[in-house]
Amino acid sequence: MKKTTRIRLLAAGLLAVLLSGCGTDSVTGRQEMTADGGDAIEVGTDPHSHAEFEKVRIHHMRLDLTADMDRHTLAGHVILDLERPDPAHNRLVLDTRHLDIEDVTAVEAGGDFIPLSWRLGTSRGTLGRPLVIVLPEDVTRVRVDYASQPEAYGLQWLEDEQTSSGKPFMFSQSEPHYARTWVPLQDTPAVRYTFDAKIRVPADLMAVMGAAGNETVRNDSGVYEFHMPQAIPSYLMAIAVGDLEFARTGARTGVYAEPGWIERAASEFHQLEKLVEIGENLYGPYRWERYDLLVLPPSFPFGGMENPRLSFITPTVIAGDGSLLDLIAHELAHSWSGNLVTNAAWRDIWLNEGFTTYFESRIMERHYGERVAGMLAVLDWQRLTAEVEAAKNDDATRLVLDENMEDPEGAFSGIPYAKGRFFLEWVADRVGRADFDRFLRSYFDHFAFQSISTETFRDYLQTQLVNEHADRLSMEQVDEWLYEPGLPDFAVAPQSDAFVRVDQWRQRWLDDEIQAADLPNDEWSVYEWLHFLKSTQGKLDTDRMQALDEAFDLTASGNYEILFVWLMHAVENRYEPAVPRLEEFLLEVGRNKYTFPLYSALAASDWGHEWATEVYRRARSGYHSLTRTASERALGLESGG
Ligand code: BES
Ligand code: ZN
Repeated sequence: MKKTTRIRLLAAGLLAVLLSGCGTDSVTGRQEMTADGGDAIEVGTDPHSHAEFEKVRIHHMRLDLTADMDRHTLAGHVILDLERPDPAHNRLVLDTRHLDIEDVTAVEAGGDFIPLSWRLGTSRGTLGRPLVIVLPEDVTRVRVDYASQPEAYGLQWLEDEQTSSGKPFMFSQSEPHYARTWVPLQDTPAVRYTFDAKIRVPADLMAVMGAAGNETVRNDSGVYEFHMPQAIPSYLMAIAVGDLEFARTGARTGVYAEPGWIERAASEFHQLEKLVEIGENLYGPYRWERYDLLVLPPSFPFGGMENPRLSFITPTVIAGDGSLLDLIAHELAHSWSGNLVTNAAWRDIWLNEGFTTYFESRIMERHYGERVAGMLAVLDWQRLTAEVEAAKNDDATRLVLDENMEDPEGAFSGIPYAKGRFFLEWVADRVGRADFDRFLRSYFDHFAFQSISTETFRDYLQTQLVNEHADRLSMEQVDEWLYEPGLPDFAVAPQSDAFVRVDQWRQRWLDDEIQAADLPNDEWSVYEWLHFLKSTQGKLDTDRMQALDEAFDLTASGNYEILFVWLMHAVENRYEPAVPRLEEFLLEVGRNKYTFPLYSALAASDWGHEWATEVYRRARSGYHSLTRTASERALGLESGG
């Protein structure tokens, strides 16, 4: 180490001790906070991150991590390359949670490592603990050696017996703020960076990432290298390790899955390439080179997650007939809305999810036609109006959320998705689709690889679209959509003739004019069935359930959307013949969209609470932390129980 550097570092270290107010006799290395903290670190400009990213920000990172499938840890180091817009700002604050920090060093231009002074601040619930690193002048490269703890919320580790391959599996889920549980970083969507990664795994497993460099066959070394040339925010960091195979579906597209799923997955998603082309034709070039899917084990807590270049997908969308591809259209659409143009904070989540739900509907319309798109629109509208009605308070139904919401997870209700979608649809309707599409395309170009707020979008909308159509819509109306609760009374509900006919059939059956077997099953798509089943909620009894089951074998349905609604009916009506299937379902599937309503309904029923609690205890080890937390809430169990 050069002498001058050492002196400078010592001085900085001393300063750190003075600033932090916690007594230790070492100026470098770990310094624990005193119990009351004395902690000057507030959250940063993004209320859900401690990062002071306006002063210093990550622009590139290098990960070197080993996945220990037995101990459930990712361990190694990350090297952060920093931009320092404010060179006088002498600390770097990173977000961490469920991480063991071992060492923090500065990396000198010559490659030497110099110990830096650091400490962990007080824990703030799911926001975790800030890692405060004293940053001497001129340091632009910092290395953190660390390991994730087995309970790291953003990772799920599955044992051999919990996968179809019989080999262990691990996957990440970083959105909204769980990247900090497997990498110490500035965990805010406002910061974007590129990265390289070297991931070491047992030789019989393969690692993949939301990055370039995914291999198509397992290698013998167990070392996988990745490079991410497009700058992304932290919530899009993604990794998975397992016994994976690859199947090509087109020039730029393919599917990864465990061997037991790969064939079904490849056939279900054989149209993937075409969906990408539809997306491009609508809103401009696909900017991420490849688009692959990773089909996860059924414990994956979501339907899909738009990890860049590699969407993570639940196997419950594999229906055998491609009938649930709207979810793929959704994750693909995020390649524009979300991944390319990103919400700067979680209050703006509708910029990601509302735009994506709109874009998804346009892809579906191009792929399946207006009739299908019309049915999907009505299903979405029903979900929206139901949610607006059920909302506990006005704030919950605003498009732009309160930036000080405690947990960003709370941002993800149906409102940003569906209200956002119908807002954009309303604008398109007002100005005409051609102009709206031109606007949206230029929006994606203009803000490509940027993180923006609702207000930035609002200004752009005003200057690029509203001003020239002032006779058709006003900024007051726009603001009502953006900032007021509920739905504006000038909002337009979508219609579907197909569903009007379903409603007529349902009524005839409920009025006993026809038998269950007379329902026109052959003419009905999944969407018609979904509408039929949802609209019979509260109107069935065990006899009617049995009649439907005998005619259409619903308890044995391989379509999880249909099966889920059916099982909700089974709980409501205590339909015993479906209970074994329900048990099997809960033990197999950890998708929170299904498990949470099922456990909630069981808990509220007069017969199912105890039964569900017992099933949950057996299912728990196969669930993701997120599904555990939600299920325990549904069942009224002590968290962690
Ligand atoms: N970005 C979300 C996944 C997500 C949701 C992450 C909430 C963190 C918190 C993803 O794009 C999504 O919306 N998935 C939906 C499917 C979609 C078709 C509505 C899902 O998982 O159900
Ligand atoms: Zn989404």
